[in-house]
Amino acid sequence: MSLPSRVQLIDVGPRDGLQNEKQPVPAAVKIELVHRLQAAGLKEIEVTSYVSPKWVPQMADNHQVMSGMTRQSGVRYSVLTPNLKGYESAVLDQPDEIVVFGAASEAFSQKNINCSIAESIERFAPVVEAALAAGIAVRGAMSCTVGCPYEGEIAPERVAYLAGLMKQIGVQRVDVADTIGVGTPLKVQRALEATLQHYDIDHISGHFHDTYGQALSNTLAALQMGVWNFQSSVAGLGGCPYAKGATGNVATEDVVYLLSGMGIETGIDLDQLVDAGVFISGHLGRKPNSRVATAVLNKRAA
Ligand code: HMG
Ligand code: MG
Repeated sequence: MSLPSRVQLIDVGPRDGLQNEKQPVPAAVKIELVHRLQAAGLKEIEVTSYVSPKWVPQMADNHQVMSGMTRQSGVRYSVLTPNLKGYESAVLDQPDEIVVFGAASEAFSQKNINCSIAESIERFAPVVEAALAAGIAVRGAMSCTVGCPYEGEIAPERVAYLAGLMKQIGVQRVDVADTIGVGTPLKVQRALEATLQHYDIDHISGHFHDTYGQALSNTLAALQMGVWNFQSSVAGLGGCPYAKGATGNVATEDVVYLLSGMGIETGIDLDQLVDAGVFISGHLGRKPNSRVATAVLNKRAA
């Protein structure tokens, strides 16, 4: 067991968190959310995606959000780009990092990005090449590394296969995603081990949805392997429109509390983070979906 002394959190709330919201969220609210996250100490924020507005209407304001926010130095702003068309619009907004997103499951690849795994890699290759030539960092999200809503359990070999393809086209680091939150610690560790065949521990991040309430346990299991990069979503926002029934990412508040209690540094101020979660949840007409936020708010009220 080799626990890291510091963890880097990527808040994906503005993108993964909001992409599935049925009610339109104004760009100004998304911008305010980004501002609050960076003020709370987040050093990486996944802001938006450049995908088809017919597929994901909520992200149609990508340009407005990216050009309307005030950037803080030292913060990395990432965006999703599934193909060259997405990359070409994204690059106008100067992201620090672009994310190509593939799946370990064929069926999910088809449902989410309308092509096979092999075709997705063909689409990503020129995107990765262009980004690297332009000095933009490249991350690869790997969906359904534990389970798929259409195919069920996913074998670690499928994960290793995808990680190998990502590596071949020049993707610098990858996210091991449990898209539908069905994973449990040992299964997640197997998916991470499969990824380790192609990426070292410093270039692997954990992206755990919390549908079955396992995301914190899975985070701990990943920490125990030395993983120190994680994606989470303020107030536990989120879900993928092409993974029915899957709920949000693990709440950033919950991860920060876990890490802080273990003496692991994140640089994030929990109180300000809770306020950011209250802000966006208030806008959506609900309470933050985070046990830690609830506890902090109850304590404040007492
Ligand atoms: P397609 O229909 O196969 O694309 O969609 P196409 O090339 O045949 O083009 C069809 C139409 O889409 C054309 O427009 C294109 O211009 C347009 P039309 O002529 O019909 O008016 N188009 C685009 N428009 C804007 N931006 C683009 C773009 N590309 C084509 N980049 C595509 C392929 C990938 C675009 C589509 O399937 C799509 O947008 N899918 C949405 C995928 C998505 O955003 N999913 C959610 C994010 S992934 C996720 O949440 C998982 C993650 O969190 C990790 C995890 O938890 O697992 C990352
Ligand atoms: Mg996700």
